[in-house]
This record gives sequence, C-alpha cells and structure tokens, in this order.
Amino acid sequence: MALLYKADPVRGQQWQALFAHHAPDIEWRAWPDIGNPEEVEYLAAWTAPEDVAQLLPNLKVLFALSAGVDQLDLSRLPPALPVVRLLDPGITRGMCEYASWAVLSLHRDMLRYRQQQVARCWQAHLLQPAVNRRVGVMGLGAQAQQILATLAPLGFALSGWARSAHQVSGVECYAGEAQLPAFLSQCDILLCVLPLTDQTQGILNRRLFAQLPRGAALINMGRGGHLVEEDLLEALGSGRLSGAVLDVVQEEPAPASHPFWDHPQIVLTPHIAAMTQPQSAFGVLLENIRRFERGEPMVGEVDRSLGY
Ligand code: GLV
Repeated sequence: MALLYKADPVRGQQWQALFAHHAPDIEWRAWPDIGNPEEVEYLAAWTAPEDVAQLLPNLKVLFALSAGVDQLDLSRLPPALPVVRLLDPGITRGMCEYASWAVLSLHRDMLRYRQQQVARCWQAHLLQPAVNRRVGVMGLGAQAQQILATLAPLGFALSGWARSAHQVSGVECYAGEAQLPAFLSQCDILLCVLPLTDQTQGILNRRLFAQLPRGAALINMGRGGHLVEEDLLEALGSGRLSGAVLDVVQEEPAPASHPFWDHPQIVLTPHIAAMTQPQSAFGVLLENIRRFERGEPMVGEVDRSLGY
C-alpha cells in the first residue's frame, strides 16, 4: 500500500522522514515518481493530477495538504472519492498570528504611520481604544473561531458571520444572507476567512463595501477569488475603505504590474498567513489514514455538495 505525495518537494522530505519513522507500513512515493500506480491508495496533494481516476485506479482517499480545497476542482474527481481537508494546528496557529498582526496594524494605523515615516513626518493621530473597534470575521469555522479567541483578550468588540447559525462565546454571531447587512454595518475591520465556493466567489465587492461603516478596513486571508479587485481599488479611492491587508490575490504570484504592489493603503503578502507544517500536520494525516483503515469517519472530510 502506497501514499503518493504531490506538493512542495522541500517539505516532502520532512513528510517522508515522518512516515518512515512512524508509519513504515505506508510506502512513500513522491510525484512524479509514482511507481506502480495500482499500489497507490492515498494521495496527499496541494493540486490533484489530471484524470486521477485513470491514473490511480485504486485510489481510496485524497488528502488535501491545505485547509482550503478550492484549488482541487472537485467536479473533476470521481464522485465517490472521499476528499479530506487538513485541519493542521500549525495552519491554525499561523492564521491566528497573521490575523492578530493584521488587525493590530489596522487598529493602530500602521499603514498611515509607515507612510509618515517614509515622509519623515512626526505626527500623532488620536488613539482609539480596542473596545471601540469592531472586528467582524466572515466565516465561523474552526479557524475563524480560533482567530476570534486569539483576538478576544485584546479587547476588541467581536462579531462573526457565516452561512449557517453558530454560537461562539463572546462573539455576536450573524447567519445567512438575511443578517449580512446588519453584520456589515458594524464592522470597522472586516476579516475574511471564508472557504471559496460558488456562493462566496467575489463576495468582497462594491455592494458589500457600501454596507460597511465609512472608512472601514479589510483583511483577506481567504482566497483571491473572494475579492473583486477593481472594487477594492475604487473603494479605497473614494474613502469608503481606509486600508486593506491582503494575503491572497486572484492571480498568484501577483504579476509585477499588479496595482496592489505599490498602493499606499494596501499591505500585500505572498500567501504566507499560514503554511502546512509537517511536524504538526503529520499526526492529523496519519490518524485519518488509520481511521479510514478502521472504517471510522475521518476528521475534515469535505462535503462535496458544499465544496468545503
Ligand atoms: C492555504 O491557503 C490553505 O488552504 O491551507
């Protein structure tokens, strides 16, 4: 029985060493050296090869090596193939660190102070207490809830919105299309960690920005596909939004000509908010393989009809 790995080769070596040490019964294969394809039962991948069904006739489970699975094009995979997202505590920690940094940067006016520093301008602006700053998170899944828990001790007024109803202690929760306007109207900082699906594609658009308080700021830690990029530029230009911290863009890597690179009100990072860490992810992946072998449900299995 073999597991085929198809992702970053550098971290692949760490994964391989972990499998050799803790799960020698599972033979490790690294793409493109797939060996006898009939022996491959598990695929651990960032993107799936084309024609998975023909290529790997005995594939039993596809393990995404990421929290999001939108890059896999689920419609092209065999319908009965279980797809499992990676709920790596290392990814969650990365998301919490990035979210804290981004929220605090916007809360403490760091985009403006950075511009002032470049201009050698020593000028203070009034400080808002965190309790007056309303931070709203779009998405209320495992990662979003950890992010909210990380922000809570800083004193922000916290809210969250998701497709379905949630209850999170210390967080005002909103659900569904009907409550979206009420949620947006009270977000000074809006942070997106939604999964990318047909429903959330382009959700961060002009119509949505118009429902935020004037001068609100945006953090996108989801996917580039959530944001209509021209609408953000327009909203920043008109003062509807005051700034944005973006870890993802439509086209990655962002081309050198992309207007976000040198926009004074945008901080752009190259999809580094979180990275799958073999050390922390290995146990989660192996436990899922063992669960599958025992016929038990796996943790993080994707609902193919919802897309996450
Ligand atoms: C990274 O973007 C992930 O989905 O894990």
